[in-house]
Amino acid sequence: MLLPVDGDFLEKEELKKLAGEKALEYIEDNMIIGIGTGSTVEYTIRKLGELVRDGLKIQGIPTSVHTQRLAKEENIPLTTLEEHPSIDVTIDGADEVDSNLNLIKGGGGALTREKIVAFNSKKLIIVVDDSKVVKCLGIDFPLPVEVVKFGWTATKKTLENFGCDVKLREIMPGEPFITDNGNYVLDCEFDRIDDPVQLEFDINNIPGVVENGLFIGLADKVIVGGKQGILTLDKEAVV
Ligand code: 5RP
Repeated sequence: MLLPVDGDFLEKEELKKLAGEKALEYIEDNMIIGIGTGSTVEYTIRKLGELVRDGLKIQGIPTSVHTQRLAKEENIPLTTLEEHPSIDVTIDGADEVDSNLNLIKGGGGALTREKIVAFNSKKLIIVVDDSKVVKCLGIDFPLPVEVVKFGWTATKKTLENFGCDVKLREIMPGEPFITDNGNYVLDCEFDRIDDPVQLEFDINNIPGVVENGLFIGLADKVIVGGKQGILTLDKEAVV
């Protein structure tokens, strides 16, 4: 479905806002909502805050400490997976999306909580601008892998056996990025990922790996903000 929007050219932030807000059309009263992480979902969160102020009754489960803070700022009622183990709809961003709606996520380092929330959701809606849609995963974005600190250099070596360059994510030189779970992130740069299904499985089999950023078969819809308007890709349409 292609909806025309005004103007020939929309800046990237406008495309993200379009996609981020469009996803809220799938939200109804009394739903439990998984709330993703990232700059695109931030538009979803801001708009969701408006809808809640206008009377929408939902409870949200944030996928990161950052998202939790944003949701609190917007007075969005929050709950937990312990209280609500089944989530109705999760809205999240992605770093790459292929034509099978498989994803790379984890640019913001929230991949483990995001995957737990996605896995426990009846519906996962991904919101991206059109720069994230790729022919083959791994082309534009390194695959993030969350690893425990203990033995991380050994884990890094094992990951290099997959034929990728592996870098410890840092917030500044010499200062590693720490996830909300207290772990490191190793960014694995592949030329391309030809078999994401097998790779997801193989990486998660390495001792020391907590989770990797391949989201396979989890997304139900991908809402793409593009210069021509909004394109919604559906899992059912994938052959
Ligand atoms: C965080 C993520 C984000 O959803 C992903 O990085 C996309 O972020 P943005 O919308 O800022 O490009 O996976 O771990």
